[in-house]
Amino acid sequence: MTIQIAAFENPRSNSDTEASAIDLRKVSVRFTTDRGTVTALENIDLSVPIGGFLTLLGPSGCGKSTLLRVIADLIAPTSGNATVLGGSPSLARARRDIGFVFQDAALLPWRTALQNVALPLEVGGISRPGRRSPAELLALVGLSGWENAYPHELSGGMRQRVAIARALVNDPRLLLMDEPFGALDEITRDRLNEELLDVWASTGTTILFVTHSIYEAAFLAERVLLLAANPGRIKEIVPVSLPSPRRIALRETTEFTKLAGRLRAILETC
Ligand SMILES: Nc1ncnc2c1ncn2[C@@H]1O[C@H](COP(=O)(O)OP(=O)(O)O)[C@@H](O)[C@H]1O
Ligand SMILES: [Mg+2]
Repeated sequence: MTIQIAAFENPRSNSDTEASAIDLRKVSVRFTTDRGTVTALENIDLSVPIGGFLTLLGPSGCGKSTLLRVIADLIAPTSGNATVLGGSPSLARARRDIGFVFQDAALLPWRTALQNVALPLEVGGISRPGRRSPAELLALVGLSGWENAYPHELSGGMRQRVAIARALVNDPRLLLMDEPFGALDEITRDRLNEELLDVWASTGTTILFVTHSIYEAAFLAERVLLLAANPGRIKEIVPVSLPSPRRIALRETTEFTKLAGRLRAILETC
């Protein structure tokens, strides 16, 4: 007699489908409006490994935000298939596996920094407390001592730090960032770029980051995805082999300048 021993499934890893954090197969999104039909995304095939850092770069209207929205289950593809962390985007969303950061921090003005970070733990049905408390997350983004400050007392950069801490409070396995530093001055943006890499290293979360900035795209990523517009499509995926840990001074190197030049040349054809 043979005894069959069922394999136990570890919910946090490693079935075949879960080798990737994100798997898009022929994903297309079309919007129909009074002005006609827009193909925001056409036949997108993309795979992002667990723990990866991908930046999305491309002209306005090439579908960057739409791509993040498909992954976050905010819109459904018109055709094709999206897999997030081994299941559907809606399952990932229901499990609170996804954190989202927008250009506007969108903090509640009547709540302190700490209360804003804690907000996702209070709303909705199931909540999944992360490994780090809201106070620890504020420390992680460099805001120790600012727990009780209100949004109007914080600079733009500090408000974005709060938004990042808030996005991390459920310990998401995937962090989607849509031009999060686009409205900040350059010095603040540089500093936050370095800090984000530290956050990435210490949390191990997979990050997809949308930007208009060639330098930001190159500095942060393991790979840069360049999108072209009308219809929104993948132009090229450029691997980045710059050394880690990365500090802003890296941008002065020949290696970095060459990479930025290459991205610019591709962008000009998008
Ligand atoms: N909800 C919507 N309804 C109609 N058209 C939309 C909608 N969202 C985006 N679009 C169109 O889809 C295209 C891609 O938009 P978007 O993903 O926002 O681009 P990006 O973020 O790269 O600037 C644009 O032409 C935009 O006008
Ligand atoms: Mg956008």
